[in-house]
Amino acid sequence: MSYNLLKGKRGIIFGALDENSIAWKTAERVHEEGGKFVLTNAPVALRMGAINELAKKTGSEVIPADATSFEDLQNLVDKSVEILGGKLDFVLHSIGMSVNVRKGRHYTDLKPDWTAKGWDISAVSFHKVMQTLYKSDAMNEWGSIVALTYMAAQRVFPDYNDMADNKAYLESIARSFGYFFGRDKKVRVNTISQSPTPTTAGQGVKGFSGFIKYAEEMSPLGNATADDCADYTVTLFSDLTKRVTLQNLYNDGGFSNMGVSEKVMDRFEDEE
Ligand SMILES: NC(=O)c1ccc[n+]([C@@H]2O[C@H](COP(=O)([O-])OP(=O)(O)OC[C@H]3O[C@@H](n4cnc5c(N)ncnc54)[C@H](O)[C@@H]3O)[C@@H](O)[C@H]2O)c1
Repeated sequence: MSYNLLKGKRGIIFGALDENSIAWKTAERVHEEGGKFVLTNAPVALRMGAINELAKKTGSEVIPADATSFEDLQNLVDKSVEILGGKLDFVLHSIGMSVNVRKGRHYTDLKPDWTAKGWDISAVSFHKVMQTLYKSDAMNEWGSIVALTYMAAQRVFPDYNDMADNKAYLESIARSFGYFFGRDKKVRVNTISQSPTPTTAGQGVKGFSGFIKYAEEMSPLGNATADDCADYTVTLFSDLTKRVTLQNLYNDGGFSNMGVSEKVMDRFEDEE
C-alpha cells in the first residue's frame, strides 16, 4: 500500500548490493511512496550488475562512489542534484564492512590496518557523506539523513568483532553532526538499529544463523525484516517525523529491552 508519503522528495540511497540488501528494499519502498532518488554503491559492488535491475524498476540512475572518497562523494552529490532537478530531501547510508570479520580475525588479535579500513568504510564514511552534503548546501530544509546500525554498539555480541566499535562511532557521528545539520540547515540525522537480517553483510558475521534464531525467540514481536526496516525508514524520510533527530532508534521487535523470554528460558529449565 502507498500513502504517497514521499511525493516530490529527492534523495540518494547508498548500499543496494542485491535484492536482500536493506537499501534495496528501502529503494523499492521509497519508490512506491513517490520518492525519486539516485542509487550508488562502490565501483567494485556495481560490477556485479544487480543494481541495474533495481534502477530500471525504480526509474533511477546509478552513480558509482566509494563512500570513503571525498572526490567520488562530491561528484555523486553534484550529479544527483542535477539529475533530480533540485536539492535533496533524504539520504540513506546503508554501508558496512570489516576486513577482520571477513578474514575471520579474532577480536583479541585485530590487525590495525584492517581495523582502520573497516572503520573508514563503516563509520567515517558517514561523516564524509554528511560533510559533502553540508558544505555543498545540498539538502533542503526539513530533510532527513538515516544510517543503519546494530545494538552491538551498546551491548556485547562477541562475534560482531570490530563492527561493534565501528557502529558505536557511527552512532556518535549521527549525534555530533546532527547537531550542526539541525542548527544550520534544519536537517535531521538518525540511526536505525536493526534486528539481525539475512543479507550479504549480515551473513558474514560468524554464528549468524544461531544468532538470528536467538534474537527471534527473545523478541516479543520477532525480528524486524529488511522490509520492516524499509517501512520505518520511509517514516523517517517523511514529513511526519520532522523533529525526530539525534536518535538511535531500535527497529528490533523489542529485543533491546528484553532480559529473557519464556521461549529462551524453556531451553534451560530442568526436566521435571
Ligand atoms: N544484516 C544485518 O544483520 C544488519 C543488522 C543491523 C544493521 N545492519 C547494517 O545495515 C547496513 C546495510 O547492510 P546489509 O545488511 O543490507 O548488507 P549488504 O551487504 O547488502 O550491504 C552493505 C553495503 O555496503 C556497501 N559498501 C561496502 N564498502 C563500500 C564502500 N567503500 N563504499 C560504498 N559502499 C560500500 C556494499 O557494497 C553493500 O552494498 C550496514 O550498515 C549494516 O551494518 C545490518
